[in-house]
Amino acid sequence: MIYLDHAATTRLHPAARDAMLPFLDGVFGNPSGLYALGREAQEAVDSARTRVSTVIGARPSEVLFTSGGTESINTALLGIAYALRRAGSGNHVISTAIEHHAGLHATQFLEELGFDVTYVGCDTSGHLDLAEFERALRPETVLASVMLANNEVGTVQPIAEISRLLAEYRRAHRHHRILLHTDAVQAPGWLSLDVDALGADALSLSSHKFGGPKGSGILFLRRATPFRQLIHGGGQESQKRAGTENVAGIAGAATALEIAQSGVTSRSARVGRLRERLRDAILASVPGATVNGCQQQCLPNNLNISFDGIESDLLVAALDGAGIAASSGSACSNSMWEPSHVLMAMGVPIRRAVGSIRFSLGAATTEAEIDTVAMLLPALVEQIRGR
Ligand SMILES: Cc1ncc(COP(=O)(O)O)c(C=O)c1O
Repeated sequence: MIYLDHAATTRLHPAARDAMLPFLDGVFGNPSGLYALGREAQEAVDSARTRVSTVIGARPSEVLFTSGGTESINTALLGIAYALRRAGSGNHVISTAIEHHAGLHATQFLEELGFDVTYVGCDTSGHLDLAEFERALRPETVLASVMLANNEVGTVQPIAEISRLLAEYRRAHRHHRILLHTDAVQAPGWLSLDVDALGADALSLSSHKFGGPKGSGILFLRRATPFRQLIHGGGQESQKRAGTENVAGIAGAATALEIAQSGVTSRSARVGRLRERLRDAILASVPGATVNGCQQQCLPNNLNISFDGIESDLLVAALDGAGIAASSGSACSNSMWEPSHVLMAMGVPIRRAVGSIRFSLGAATTEAEIDTVAMLLPALVEQIRGR
């Protein structure tokens, strides 16, 4: 099978698996246990926290372990917004129209709780409209959440610049702090995650997107960030996220993140060339194919292409039949086509949006695999168009 759906999930890295195994078997203690077996589990959690903090340029105390990207994002958005409103700082949140549903649905829930949320739009390549972002700022704004890299079209947003805009607004208006969260779930392996360079107060990661296990996530919360805990119970994770720690998942996530973030530059350059090879081959051999989004400032592994006259689910099924795993940019529910909210925000016409396919490459993708996909695709598209 040729796997080109790394934005959906990745294979567990063998080193991450090795890091997990002791905690799935012999070292089964609860990290809260005061005996040797518990202490050993606690040491693994502490070591993972230190290793993650080193990779992202944070302090260990600023790293929380969660159940995944979705929990990290919900925790950051709801926990920070709630705390700031309770402190009387304001009621307004800024986000974007192209966030993953984990962010979008969390801010919609904030609206249900009485927050006012502004969703900033993007241009045709999927990049945020910074002027619109600036216009959205107001004295009641307490939180901005902007994804670092988009999961559908791969656009990378200028988080450091947004952080600077927020600082300038605060200085110019003698405003209280406006905190910045970024959904960095798609970034590991491809982009730097240095939280100071990004200027983020909170950053969310999901371990299975970078060679770690599923059900394991990371949330960076900068020291002194106003935050109200969402998951109540025991005192784990410094009273910020209750529940017995997923020790194996945490150990696997830390090891996978270390591996993903070493050699980012050379990996990105190599995989970026494969992406271009695939893009050029498809555009040359399939009439009516259009690249959606990103040409610059984008993830090197993402290629989102629309095929005129095609419903993407049919092409995904045909690719699957040919041993190729890719994903559809639109969803068919109750016989209704639901085009992606990201492509809609970019102004892609519906007829093109319903025919979009996302190929997402991985560190192990080879030139031979790309050439096989490029060779098989034209006939598959023609078959569907001929039906
Ligand atoms: C950008 C982005 N954010 C958040 C998530 C949610 O991560 P998870 O499903 O691992 O909780 C995903 C997963 O696809 C994603 O791509």
